[in-house]
Amino acid sequence: MPDPIRSVLFVCLGNICRSPLAEGVMEHLAEDLELVVDSAGTGGWHVGEPADPRSIEVAERHGITLGSRARKVREDDFDEFDLIIAMDRSNLEDLEALRDGGSAELRLFREFDPEAGGEMDVPDPYYGGPDGFDDVYEMVLRGCRKLLEEIERR
Ligand code: 4NP
Repeated sequence: MPDPIRSVLFVCLGNICRSPLAEGVMEHLAEDLELVVDSAGTGGWHVGEPADPRSIEVAERHGITLGSRARKVREDDFDEFDLIIAMDRSNLEDLEALRDGGSAELRLFREFDPEAGGEMDVPDPYYGGPDGFDDVYEMVLRGCRKLLEEIERR
């Protein structure tokens, strides 16, 4: 049996679109568990900023308030979190390159999406229109539900 998961960190590139949405949805779904949930970015361009207004808007429409501020991934995140989830394969590669020890389990978000159909990336919606954020929300919701099932089993 794998180790229990008490903390999860979602990681994307800017930490303003995809991973804050995953953080907010997971916190919402896991509100009855004592789970630590956070998000971070591999890039630092938006450090200190709130989530992108389009992520805030789609979350708000589903009754979820995003309060996160962007931060960069740190080396000690690999010690502090039981599970680190990359939103796409490029984020996963960046995390693997940054890693210097630590016991965190590293996974790809869409491993948890039952409708991924072999597509491994949560697409970056930053440069697209608002529909992209609706699509990302649906993927994030499906993936977080599965992730919650796994956490409850472990
Ligand atoms: P995210 O989207 O990785 O889902 O937060 C992005 C946000 C900002 C940038 C890239 C991706 N950027 O290049 O500023």
